[in-house]
Amino acid sequence: MPDFSYLTLDSLSTAVILVDGVLHVIYLNPAAENLFEVSGKNLLENSLQLVFTDTGQLANAMQRALHDNASYIEHELVLTTHAHNKLQLRCTVTPLPANRLLLEFHPMDRPLKLAREEQMLDQTQASRLLLRNLAHEIKNPLGGIRGAAQLLEQELDKPALREYTQVIIQEADRLRALMEKLLTPQSNTRHSALNIHEVLERVRSVVLAEMPEGLTIVRDYDISLPALIGDKEQLIQVVLNIVRNAAQAMQGEGKIVLRTRVARQVTLFKQRHRLAIMVQIIDNGPGIPPELRDKIFYPLVSGRADGHGLGLTLAQDFVSQHSGTIEFDSEPGRTCFTVMLPLQAASE
Ligand SMILES: Nc1ncnc2c1ncn2[C@@H]1O[C@H](COP(=O)(O)OP(=O)(O)O)[C@@H](O)[C@H]1O
Ligand SMILES: [Mg+2]
Repeated sequence: MPDFSYLTLDSLSTAVILVDGVLHVIYLNPAAENLFEVSGKNLLENSLQLVFTDTGQLANAMQRALHDNASYIEHELVLTTHAHNKLQLRCTVTPLPANRLLLEFHPMDRPLKLAREEQMLDQTQASRLLLRNLAHEIKNPLGGIRGAAQLLEQELDKPALREYTQVIIQEADRLRALMEKLLTPQSNTRHSALNIHEVLERVRSVVLAEMPEGLTIVRDYDISLPALIGDKEQLIQVVLNIVRNAAQAMQGEGKIVLRTRVARQVTLFKQRHRLAIMVQIIDNGPGIPPELRDKIFYPLVSGRADGHGLGLTLAQDFVSQHSGTIEFDSEPGRTCFTVMLPLQAASE
């Protein structure tokens, strides 16, 4: 006599896995296949370790359930899938007859994701303020430097020396233009329909030209993606900054994958979007140093001796001007930056 109906479990939206006494999978419902990105058929009679890479915390919960012969709830379970996705879950383990265990998983990533996005928004605003103040501070003395160089130029007898004053004047002008950009980022944006792959192709050719040997940039494009409304120059800068970082981290030797996918029903900054474009930049370099992971989007944070620490700050600023998000996941051998850009007008 079956003690429950698989049919009922099949239609549940909660992810459910049934295991036997030696932790082999007896049953896995479609919600679990979805959540852990696995196919149930291949897993039946196989170890639970084929579903996720780290089962330690879960093994502990299972032991307790068996020991108490009662349901045990693990409120903060962290599991990594074989597709490298880290999941935060609440898990209920229920002992069943014949040494079997029923595992129910409830994802908790919504509140965590929201908290992360809010933090990112705060951070972007703080970064923007800092950049504006910095730009202001730099602009003022620049005017003085330029004026002094002009006066000096008039006093010079040898025309050959003017070359030097011209360098000062031109560089001061270039810096001023850059500072203007930082002070008024919005005023220069031009939104129009664009193809994200044109953006990626441009970045690909620029970075390959900079690092001609040893670097491979693989395209993994979903060419059916619809057009996106956005500022092409800004988006090029976003992807360029991320890809350059990857290339620099690998010292020009390694592989970068540029991946595009469509994402449906995504929630970004509390807004629900029917469609979004997901761009992933994945490298097989050394990974982001652990001590930098919490702050790489802050201005002036750099892990490189000659870095300015502005690349990711600007990237984040530009992406948030497109109502999108940037996130990353990094470990030695694999760093993935994910940029989500909403396609449709926000609903609700
Ligand atoms: N793909 C990556 N792999 C390893 N480290 C990275 C990667 N992307 C960013 N970083 C780290 O983040 C830091 C900040 O990047 P960024 O804001 O572009 O500033 P900068 O490139 O001027 O240092 C880098 O210096 C580097 O230490
Ligand atoms: Mg950089």
